[in-house]
Amino acid sequence: MQLLEAIHSRRSVRAYTDREVDEATIRALLHAAVQAPSAINTQPWRFSIVQSKARLRHYSDRAKETMLARAHAATDPRAAQFMELLEDPAFNIFYDAGTLVVIGVETRTTYSDADCWLAAQNLMLAACDAGLGTCAIGFAVGVLNTPEIKAEIGLPESGAALAPILVGYPLAMPDPMSRDEPRVLSWTR
Ligand SMILES: Cc1cc2nc3c(=O)[nH]c(=O)nc-3n(C[C@H](O)[C@H](O)[C@H](O)COP(=O)(O)O)c2cc1C
Repeated sequence: MQLLEAIHSRRSVRAYTDREVDEATIRALLHAAVQAPSAINTQPWRFSIVQSKARLRHYSDRAKETMLARAHAATDPRAAQFMELLEDPAFNIFYDAGTLVVIGVETRTTYSDADCWLAAQNLMLAACDAGLGTCAIGFAVGVLNTPEIKAEIGLPESGAALAPILVGYPLAMPDPMSRDEPRVLSWTR
């Protein structure tokens, strides 16, 4: 697959087959991830891989509980818009995928979030090239940063989980989401 083809055909996949993603494939994706640019080449990204559906279901339930509580308390107006989904016991924020790659850092710095998201995009494009689907899961960021789960996934207290990315074999490819034309605010020559 050519690079531009991958850029244009990547979609956020929300339905996966039961086929497991093997270790060699995940390692190849991580190798692509770490080719991303990083501020002063600090390469702050660290990777935690979760390949237990039961564990992911547990994280999902905890995330939904917290987000719902915030929505009810109206402390997070964004959560309110997802209330119906979050109240559905069948809804799994990880869409029953078998693999979650959490990209995080041991210490957060000015540019570490940017570095990790650039690594995440490399991983997602490499996965697309390999016939895999991916989806960034912002819903998971809160729960992954609780002290217990940080410890479970190997992040120190000082660390942060930044970019949770699902990886799996797509059951169905979503229709492309439309994109607005680039809005250029200024172009000084
Ligand atoms: C930072 C970030 C967080 C996201 N969080 C979620 C999420 O929690 N759940 C989900 O289903 N999709 C999530 N997405 C995927 C977006 O909804 C998706 O990228 C967008 O709708 C465009 O669709 P496309 O990726 O198929 O082009 C997230 C994407 C990004 C970049």
